[in-house]
Parts: sequence; C-alpha cells; structure tokens
Amino acid sequence: MNSDIPSLQPESLPRHIAIIMDGNGRWARKRSLNRIRGHREGAESVRDIVRACREMGIEVLTLYAFSTENWQRPRHEISALMSLLKGFLRSELAEMMENGIRLNAIGQTERFPADVVKVLQEVMDMTRKNPGMLLNLALSYGGRDEIVAAARKIAAEVVAGRLQAEEITEAVFSSYLYTQGMPEPDLLIRTSGEMRISNFLLWQIAYTEIYVTSTLWPDFRRGELIHIVHEYQKRERRFGVTGDQIKKARRRE
Ligand code: FPP
Repeated sequence: MNSDIPSLQPESLPRHIAIIMDGNGRWARKRSLNRIRGHREGAESVRDIVRACREMGIEVLTLYAFSTENWQRPRHEISALMSLLKGFLRSELAEMMENGIRLNAIGQTERFPADVVKVLQEVMDMTRKNPGMLLNLALSYGGRDEIVAAARKIAAEVVAGRLQAEEITEAVFSSYLYTQGMPEPDLLIRTSGEMRISNFLLWQIAYTEIYVTSTLWPDFRRGELIHIVHEYQKRERRFGVTGDQIKKARRRE
C-alpha cells in the first residue's frame, strides 16, 4: 500500500464516493489544445482515481462519465468520448480482474452505440463476481430520468396488484433506482469549481457531504483525493440531528 494512505482513519472512510468529473474542455483550452485532448487526459485521471480508491478501501466509486444532456454535444466529441470509454474498458479489464474490481453502469446505456454496449456488457459479465470495489459508471445518466423511470416501474407494480400504494416507502422507492443495493454516497466531489449538482444522483445525495475543488478534472489525481478524504473525516455528519445528540450516541457505542 502507498504511504499516503495509512494517515486516513479507516473507521470513518467514506463507503461510497461519487465524482462529477468536470473541466476537461477548459484544461485543453488553457493549453490551446482541442477538447478531445482534455478528455484523453481526463481518462488518465480516471485510471489514477480508480486505483487510489481501491487502495483506500472505498466500497463504491461512482463516476459521472456521460450525462443525458451530453448527447447534445457535437457529434465528433460524442464519438471521441465513446471510443475513450471503450479503450478504457478494454485496457483496464486485466487490472480490474487482478484487483477484484466489479464494473457496473447506471443510466440509459441502451442509447450507446452497439459496439460500446457490447464491451461494457462483456466487462460487467467478466467482473460480476469480483469481491472488491464497485466501479459504477454513470453513462447517459440523468437523476430526474432515473426517478421518473423508478416511478413508472412502481406504478406498473401497483397496477398489476403486486404492490399497494401504502407500501411505497423511501426504502421501497430506493430499491427501484439504478443504485439499488448500494450505500448512498458519503462524499460527492465536483472538480473545476462549479457549484452545481447537474442532475447527478438527485435522490441519493440527500445527506451526502459535498466538496468542490477548482482543480480541472485532468489535473485531479490521487494526492488531492486523499486530501479531500482527510477533510471529509474532519466533518461532523449530523443527518438532521444536533451535534450534542451525535456526541451522546457516540459515547454510548
Ligand atoms: C466534463 O468536462 C467531462 C465529461 C463530459 C466527460 C467525462 C469523461 C472523461 C473523464 C473521459 C473518459 C471517461 C472514462 C470513464 C474513461 P467538460 O467537457 O464539460 O469540460 P468543460 O466544462 O471545461 O468544457
């Protein structure tokens, strides 16, 4: 294990980290390069961050790789992102197997080109039984879309008589989301300084700690991630109760 990790407190590590990877275009513009070069360097950050999260012992890492809104980008940028994703999946498979990483995708992945869906499916199948970290890629993902899709599925269950309206609790609703069975994110990181959620995990981030860094995604690497996890460990998560109540509950533990 790398020497920068032992300084973290293992008992208060985030179980689930979610990241809005932003700033690839600005990174490229600052260097008079085209946007695709920014995405390419961004893919290097993805590799580094996946590795660091696994070494830290994070259970779930969710990366916002392509939003439902990203379909409106120029066609050549979309196809560059698709081939980067395909290349990433192919090149990382061996390391995922070696390190027990399981791949999952959330979002309308059926909208992706058939060759990308095929590689995605193959990697998900190959890694399905891996016992380690879950790498969850949000692909053609939109938080509102996810909630509407869940509501539709629930309505169909009610119409079919398999579910009563009174039985729809928050836990039941959650079980119809793409993230079913996963812990909710403890920490949400957004790079490139924008103070927005951008339709990401709207339901799941109700009590998530948010950290925004001005670093552009291609410059975001393990050192800064570890610093942010340190900062997270200093925060008091109150979940709507008072600080005194939290301290009292801790004394009872
Ligand atoms: C935001 O930067 C980033 C994206 C829309 C795509 C994220 C893709 C990658 C990090 C690379 C490939 C992904 C994987 C999983 C290998 P932006 O283009 O919106 O940047 P800007 O706001 O500066 O223009």
